[in-house]
Amino acid sequence: MATSAKILNPETCTVNEDWTIVLPRRGKKGRNLPRIRTPEEQQKPWFPTEMMVIYGIGSIESYETPRLQLSLAILMKRKLSWIGDVEVFDPILSATESRVLESLGCYVLLVNEQGRRCAIKPTLFYMPHCEAELYDNLLQANWGVMLKGMVLLGNSFETYEQHVLEYKSSVIVDTARHILAVRKLTQEFSINTVSDDYFAAFHDSSWHFFSPDVEAKLQLTEI
Ligand SMILES: C[S@@+](CC[C@H](N)C(=O)[O-])C[C@H]1O[C@@H](n2cnc3c(N)ncnc32)[C@H](O)[C@@H]1O
Repeated sequence: MATSAKILNPETCTVNEDWTIVLPRRGKKGRNLPRIRTPEEQQKPWFPTEMMVIYGIGSIESYETPRLQLSLAILMKRKLSWIGDVEVFDPILSATESRVLESLGCYVLLVNEQGRRCAIKPTLFYMPHCEAELYDNLLQANWGVMLKGMVLLGNSFETYEQHVLEYKSSVIVDTARHILAVRKLTQEFSINTVSDDYFAAFHDSSWHFFSPDVEAKLQLTEI
């Protein structure tokens, strides 16, 4: 794991006070009706909600790693009150896997966005061990001011940069142009895998936050 990256406990995350309330994007009958909060919920401090988009979860029927990664998403959704709708897309998901995801409260997307979702609402992207191209597409789609509206949990960008420096791989440079360019404006916090049981699911993964003055400094030509 990257040595200079810091460790973050997601429980202690705070939400930028400027962020706005996000209403459900699409929905089944009744989803847009305001939900009545229980007395316990009314006692809790209120936070604005944000979307969570999960790309590339993999086959939850076939492999333990995607199941562990999905478990983290569901735990975050349960524990962190600021997380709103959870949308999932992976082209390999079967109809059965999609139904399981829906039963767990996720919305399975029907369209392959190729990772190009624009964070017009504050959005948490969870992309466990996706290909570099997918992260790059996401960054390209949000290049500029919209980077401020997104947080990304996925492969360590610092590790991509180290690979480029070590192996001078032109393939990585080509597929990761935006990843490399955004590095100097990114605060990265690596996931510390405390047990070998979770290594396969969470190794080389980091939280990425993008600097507020991102607009002025984003220059692809510097790569
Ligand atoms: C390297 S696998 C990672 C799978 C799993 N998360 C893991 O760690 O084992 C990358 C995943 O990205 C998915 N993928 C490919 N293109 C995608 C796209 N356009 N949108 C979302 N997921 C995509 C693949 O189907 C695959 O399941």
